[in-house]
Amino acid sequence: MADAEQTPPDAGTDRSGRPPSASTEPPILAAHEVHRTYRFGQVEVPVLRGASIEIGRGEWVAILGQSGSGKSTLMHLLGGLDRPDAGRGTIEFEGRAVNLGAGRSLDRYRNRDVGFVFQFYHLLPELSVLENACLPGLVGGWFGHARAAAARRRAGELLEQAGLSHRLRHRPAELSGGERQRVAIARALVNGPRVLLADEPTGNLDATTGASILDLIAAQHAEGLTVAMVTHDASVAARAQRVVHLRDGQVVEG
Ligand SMILES: Nc1ncnc2c1ncn2[C@@H]1O[C@H](COP(=O)(O)OP(=O)(O)OP(=O)(O)O)[C@@H](O)[C@H]1O
Ligand SMILES: [Mg+2]
Repeated sequence: MADAEQTPPDAGTDRSGRPPSASTEPPILAAHEVHRTYRFGQVEVPVLRGASIEIGRGEWVAILGQSGSGKSTLMHLLGGLDRPDAGRGTIEFEGRAVNLGAGRSLDRYRNRDVGFVFQFYHLLPELSVLENACLPGLVGGWFGHARAAAARRRAGELLEQAGLSHRLRHRPAELSGGERQRVAIARALVNGPRVLLADEPTGNLDATTGASILDLIAAQHAEGLTVAMVTHDASVAARAQRVVHLRDGQVVEG
């Protein structure tokens, strides 16, 4: 049985988590040699120093690393929320650069192609659970009645899957940490992204609550969602198919 337990959930993937066809099929999301330096006056702090990662379609990758190693920085770059230093690295989604210039395609990428779960929830306190989860469905140019209704329906379904049907009209302040994170996951998924970027989704939760969050992510992954998840906890990382480490500003395998 031990062998069975070690077999990754998806047929057709090996232990590394890369599909057998990885050499021919391009990654869905990749960072190529990205640098990101923060500046404090005269002082430069190079956080990412040529970090590269390729995430296969349908893969679940965990990114491990010590506090301050640059995990959130890398996730923000992957999510199009921040850019690499000028001319120093690219982020590619489905083979196309997403970090060149602002504008419509970058907005679309952030709103549609990827879903982002932040380290500290980032829910809007004055909105209800349902409104928070709907929000990305209402952003993006046209606020048609049909689209708003579709976003509400999808948010309602996701919140039901997350076990929060009875909480739709509550405010975030009335929820536990685990419940807030489940709302944040529903929000990240409401536009049906191809990739979920989750930054320490269980970081502030006890082990049992954290496991329920991972179960929720696993259910979406089983439906084909690609997942990149940051954690500093090896037992959380064990839920992923592949683990990489951020060390000295670079991504190292294994
Ligand atoms: N906006 C910012 N301005 C300046 N420095 C920053 C900024 N964001 C992050 N840093 C610095 O960059 C380094 C990496 O930060 P980052 O948040 O990416 O680390 P992390 O690996 O996510 O850490 P943690 O596990 O604590 O969340 C830290 O030294 C941090 O102080
Ligand atoms: Mg972080």
